[in-house]
Amino acid sequence: MKNLGCNCSSRTLIIIFIHIIIHILVSPYLTYAEEFDPVIQLPHSGSNITQTRSKRVFSVLDYGARGDGHHNDTKAFLKAWKIACSISRSTKVVFPFGKTFLVYPTDIAGPCRSKITLRILGTIVAPQDPSVWNGLNQHKWLYFHGMNRLTVDGGGRINGMGQEWWARSCKTNSTNPCHPAPTALTFHKCENLNVRKLTMLNSQQMHIAFTDCAHVVASHLKVLAPAFSPNTDGIHISESKGVEIKDSVIRTGDDCISIVRNSSQVRIRDISCGPGHGISIGSLGKSESEAWEKVQDVHVNGAYLYNTDNGVRIKTWQGGQGFASKITFQNIVMENVSNPIIIDQYYCDSKHPCDNQTSAVRVENISFIDIKGTSATEEAIKFACSDSSPCEGLYLKNIFLESCMGGNTSSYCWQAHGSTRGLVYPPTCLSRNHDFIRQKVWLDSNSAIDSI
Ligand SMILES: *[C@@H]1O[C@H](CO)[C@@H](O)[C@H](O)[C@H]1NC(C)=O
Ligand SMILES: *[C@@H]1O[C@H](CO)[C@@H](O)[C@H](O)[C@H]1NC(C)=O
Ligand SMILES: *[C@@H]1O[C@H](CO)[C@@H](O)[C@H](O)[C@H]1NC(C)=O
Ligand SMILES: *[C@@H]1O[C@H](CO)[C@@H](O)[C@H](O)[C@H]1NC(C)=O
Ligand SMILES: *[C@@H]1O[C@H](CO)[C@@H](O)[C@H](O)[C@H]1NC(C)=O
Ligand SMILES: *[C@@H]1O[C@H](CO)[C@@H](O)[C@H](O)[C@H]1NC(C)=O
Ligand SMILES: *[C@@H]1O[C@H](CO)[C@@H](O)[C@H](O)[C@H]1NC(C)=O
Ligand SMILES: *[C@@H]1O[C@H](CO)[C@@H](O)[C@H](O)[C@H]1NC(C)=O
Repeated sequence: MKNLGCNCSSRTLIIIFIHIIIHILVSPYLTYAEEFDPVIQLPHSGSNITQTRSKRVFSVLDYGARGDGHHNDTKAFLKAWKIACSISRSTKVVFPFGKTFLVYPTDIAGPCRSKITLRILGTIVAPQDPSVWNGLNQHKWLYFHGMNRLTVDGGGRINGMGQEWWARSCKTNSTNPCHPAPTALTFHKCENLNVRKLTMLNSQQMHIAFTDCAHVVASHLKVLAPAFSPNTDGIHISESKGVEIKDSVIRTGDDCISIVRNSSQVRIRDISCGPGHGISIGSLGKSESEAWEKVQDVHVNGAYLYNTDNGVRIKTWQGGQGFASKITFQNIVMENVSNPIIIDQYYCDSKHPCDNQTSAVRVENISFIDIKGTSATEEAIKFACSDSSPCEGLYLKNIFLESCMGGNTSSYCWQAHGSTRGLVYPPTCLSRNHDFIRQKVWLDSNSAIDSI
């Protein structure tokens, strides 16, 4: 079909199917903007205090916001938030539809007295000029921390206006000094968080980060930035437990989803990803930090990856400690992906070459199940594991990765132990685990997932 270099034939239907599913899942929020909660208010005769107490919906327009895209609407947002947050019943702070609100770097601390919803129906834009951040935290634009039971939704847009930040990045031009750039939306130490039905555009750096959070559901998101935009990860998960990401489209210049530092119980379903760098666990164990890190219990089930640098990836630096384990990548369709399946324990993203080290983050019990599509390179499967701690318990089942260029694809294995079931193409190069019993135990405990 539209495919140029990539031989498509049999996969086309699956791909179209996934496209349609994702479209159906993502599109309802377009009409969501019309929905609006009634303002519950006492008659005007009541004093202002009673009015405020009975009010549940706080529009930033009532607190001085203009929504013209030029006026600084930060103060209005903070005023509305402060009142809504202090009320003992669930409240909503609303950015109305059809307007553009300029919001400067903002730090919002919880907890609020009750459930609170930030309903973005219109557009929130960041200041374009990086010098606005002088003297402020360069890592953050909209920063929520210590919140419990926060929902952010509304079908509107959050635009990081990142173009000037990208131009100044050392990844764009190596003569530029390297400096941090803001994450558009950061949630730190948040619990029972819901982020849904939003479009995130052109973030300065990462789009959404969950750090030290628990019980998070992120869904029906559209995250969009150009392929050339540096480090614009879609969704970043760090030190968090119980995170579900589903029914979302992510097209950026870096990882669609990255999972790092002591994160666990992560579920990812029905994601369309690309361009970008794919779905990544890590990097883990960057030696400078001498970090002990673990990422475990991650299940990616249902993803379509298109024109990405990597498909599903685990990357660790040499010299770290900890482990990446109990990770399953399942039901994945890839199209023109450069490294469809990759474990790299020699990851090195520094200006200097990385020295060989004796310690390593262990990579164990990783399953790849029902993964099909096309590879933009011959080497469709790469397991570059560590000499000091080889990969154990790798499991491949029903893998079919053809070449985009024609010809055969191949696998690369170094210190990679595990087993396969069903058809696996390119042919596997795993060496059989010397500890066969352990491998079998893992397979059995994995069979619940496997049989879906
Ligand atoms: C009470 O609220 C009204 C309308 O919101 C406002 O015009 C008025 O100035 C307020 N009065 C006081 C005393 O704050
Ligand atoms: C915008 O408003 C916020 C909140 O009042 C303030 O802290 C910030 O300095 C303002 N920025 C500019 C450039 O006016
Ligand atoms: C990188 O920046 C330098 C100095 O600002 C400039 O001379 C050069 O043309 C830039 N290179 C590219 C590829 O943009
Ligand atoms: C991860 O958690 C362990 C304790 O469970 C802690 O020692 C370590 O410092 C944490 N690592 C990071 C990078 O936060
Ligand atoms: C394959 O992906 C690369 C980027 O990795 C892109 O440059 C190329 O145009 C894509 N090819 C097709 C046929 O889409
Ligand atoms: C690291 O080890 C590899 C293979 O064992 C070797 O080829 C390479 O030269 C070593 N690098 C350094 C910096 O010692
Ligand atoms: C692909 O592999 C098959 C089986 O090993 C072999 O017969 C065939 O010649 C290979 N094709 C190419 C283009 O290398
Ligand atoms: C991998 O699975 C085996 C068998 O269930 C278990 O003994 C081992 O501890 C697991 N490895 C890690 C790092 O969790």
